[in-house]
Amino acid sequence: MENPSHEYVHGYSARENRRLMDQATTLTQLLHHDTKYPAGALVLEAGCGVGAQTTALVQNNPDAHFVSVDISQESLGAAKSRIETAGFHNVTFQQADIFNLPFPERHFDHVFVCFVLEHLKNPLDALLHLKAKLTKGGTITVIEGDHGSTYFHPDSRAAWDTIQCLIDLQARKGGDSLIGRKLFPLVQDAGFHSVTVSPRMVYVDSSRPGYVEGFTKNTFIAMVEGVHDEAINSGLIEELHWEKGIKDLYRATGKDGTFCYTFFKALANK
Ligand SMILES: C[S@@+](CC[C@H](N)C(=O)[O-])C[C@H]1O[C@@H](n2cnc3c(N)ncnc32)[C@H](O)[C@@H]1O
Repeated sequence: MENPSHEYVHGYSARENRRLMDQATTLTQLLHHDTKYPAGALVLEAGCGVGAQTTALVQNNPDAHFVSVDISQESLGAAKSRIETAGFHNVTFQQADIFNLPFPERHFDHVFVCFVLEHLKNPLDALLHLKAKLTKGGTITVIEGDHGSTYFHPDSRAAWDTIQCLIDLQARKGGDSLIGRKLFPLVQDAGFHSVTVSPRMVYVDSSRPGYVEGFTKNTFIAMVEGVHDEAINSGLIEELHWEKGIKDLYRATGKDGTFCYTFFKALANK
């Protein structure tokens, strides 16, 4: 198993699960308006977590069939009940490790993977395993963030230092929260062709209260706050400096504040 739960920087808490849902709900239009598969297509969703992206996938593609896998049985349970409650029947959930997938070679028409590569020690290897399960001519869609793409007003050194804690802690676990900018070479190196990457920028100010709540506060700041204990305990930052940094991040959600972040969406063919 590549990433046992204690090595996964965001963990599997109830708060983190809510954060993943807020992230997906707020970003559905930005990330998924063009995630479309033909009727009858068989799509592997790798690392589905609690089903936050699965919801958007099935809503957009009621006539495709999804096999959504995750290494965490608990997350899969949450994903399954979420999709059943929403009334969709075109998903099969299965526990599986991306590095040891229990499917024949060239089994899937398409592969979808979102916010997973950033947590893996060897994302290239993961792409090679996923590629093996993809039919010739099939597509892979990869969506990742890049914490280095963050900027905000009012700017603050302390706020930046809290974000750097998250970047450093994820790197210590073998992940890479700056992976978004590397998607083009990474997907190419895995041997896919016709690689295109489109940046998806989230811009937030107080005229967009849904984004202030759903993205800046409940997705981004919540993600940074999630590593508070580890950041302090590992001596990366002093408690008072951390508190100032978080307070300053919240200033960017105020009446005169603004916040920017860029996701990267890659599409390629086998
Ligand atoms: C940040 S979550 C993203 C979940 C979902 N894709 C989303 O966007 O909400 C990363 C997920 O990848 C899963 N994961 C990590 N390593 C994995 C592996 N080797 N095989 C399958 N799933 C894995 C984790 O259990 C976790 O649910």
